[in-house]
Amino acid sequence: MNKTKIAVLVSGGGTNLQALIDAQKSDIISSGEIALVVSNNRGAYALERAKNAGIKSAVVIKKECIDQYDFEQKIIDILEENNIELIVLAGFMSILTERFTSKYDHKIINVHPSLIPSFCGKGFYGLKVHESALEYGVKVTGATVHFVNEIPDGGEIIMQKAVDILEGDTPEVLQKRVMEQAEWIILPLSVEKISKQIQSKRR
Ligand code: GAR
Repeated sequence: MNKTKIAVLVSGGGTNLQALIDAQKSDIISSGEIALVVSNNRGAYALERAKNAGIKSAVVIKKECIDQYDFEQKIIDILEENNIELIVLAGFMSILTERFTSKYDHKIINVHPSLIPSFCGKGFYGLKVHESALEYGVKVTGATVHFVNEIPDGGEIIMQKAVDILEGDTPEVLQKRVMEQAEWIILPLSVEKISKQIQSKRR
């Protein structure tokens, strides 16, 4: 049966993209294939990772678009040209409006570096999430994979994994631990789960 065609949207380092590429190699992801990487940043190291893995990539820069509508339309056009069935936001630092998310209802998933509903929503991204967790003084944090809808970090939860906060943690140390112990594990597992569901609905 044809594999679910996946696009991964990125903005930066792309370690989550790498985890997906590795999971595909080791057959943790077997129901889907990463067919495309889309970056909103020309300098994203994630683009190198795509290239090294032989995955097609595209760049769409918001500042070079007329407005948000145009930015989203350009991404939609690329997704449609490539017959993409599942969109994975892996460190994609741009909010997508309802016009985009409603077109792909339960077809967009995101990884967020906290246990939603803590430390999430508008303004909570990347290191800021970990800074906030440390500032608050929580002793456990983690990562969440969820469907994307029009509410930032507000869609249905697919998977979560808890990670301990340790004495002396800095935002950077905590970010690395959350990635290693949670994000890089639950993102590939979630992608396989949803790819399989999409595949079986297609039958
Ligand atoms: C990851 O920690 C991801 O969870 C986070 O940005 C980082 C991207 O790293 N995403 C968000 O904060 C989204 N709200 P990566 O480019 O190395 O995968």
